[in-house]
Amino acid sequence: MRDLVAETRLDVSQLVAPLFVREGIDAPQPIASLPGVVQHTPASLREEVRQLADLGVGAVILFGIPSVKDAIGSQAFDPAGIVQHALSDLSADVGERMVIMADLCVDEYTSHGHCGVLDGPPGDPNTSVDNDATLEIYGKIAVAQADAGAHVVAPSGMMDGQVGAIRAALDGAGHHNTAILAYSAKYASGLYGPFRDAVDCAIVGGGDRKAYQQDWRNAREALIEVQADLEQGADMVMVKPAMSYLDIIAKVKAAVNVPVAAYHVSGEYAMIKAAAANGWIDHDVVATEQLTAIRRAGADIVLTYLARWYAEARS
Ligand code: PBG
Repeated sequence: MRDLVAETRLDVSQLVAPLFVREGIDAPQPIASLPGVVQHTPASLREEVRQLADLGVGAVILFGIPSVKDAIGSQAFDPAGIVQHALSDLSADVGERMVIMADLCVDEYTSHGHCGVLDGPPGDPNTSVDNDATLEIYGKIAVAQADAGAHVVAPSGMMDGQVGAIRAALDGAGHHNTAILAYSAKYASGLYGPFRDAVDCAIVGGGDRKAYQQDWRNAREALIEVQADLEQGADMVMVKPAMSYLDIIAKVKAAVNVPVAAYHVSGEYAMIKAAAANGWIDHDVVATEQLTAIRRAGADIVLTYLARWYAEARS
């Protein structure tokens, strides 16, 4: 009876699995702070994604770790870059069966670890991210990712005007059908720590992202960010992280008529794994509870490192 009348359902097809592919390794590398998640080789990535498609997972989102990082993150838009290679493999393998998304940012690719190019020396207190110079780079990345077969590009750098710049660049290159999932309300959260281990990213000089990501004290500001992204052409919007921001998910859902995504981020996953490993919580119960709560709050799509576990548990 409870199943018959449940108000919320969580289907595998609504999940997006975040995946990491690293250049220059010959075997998958575990990530200590993300148990069960690895940095893939191109070959192990293909196998993993085939299995995720067989399990009915709706989409994957790819992050790349290049061998060489530089000041502008040029491996992010190099047609021979690791993510571009992986995107063309995956679109050939499973592009007809699942949605292939590419995270669009430079923090995995820059030597200084910021999500944009800098206007001065890294680590200097007077140096800022140069918003508009970064937009040009984002446009190039979008085109490179779409050329390589991405169905969706997902800008995560929180630069002002990024969605408009990316839409213009995509359209200019004939990629009218490439969709944009905007990380619209992305908070300057402490919950991204394990992700930064996963992509070997550290901010030179120990800075933070508070100049471009949102302040966790603010809720109405999220709606301004979402509105701006929609005006610039976003097809879907995202709230990130998820569990500490269920109120934001609910507000965004009430305010827009496009699909709403939420990202259950690395720190949220790591907390479940660590507490469960200590026997302090029941992994399967808490994982299902959290993913369902994100749906109940209003997310249509959930990005989660639990995607494979959930799919296997249901099959
Ligand atoms: C930026 C990006 C980040 C995450 C996704 N895209 C890191 C950041 O903003 O520092 C975090 C994802 C996670 O923690 O799982 N490219």
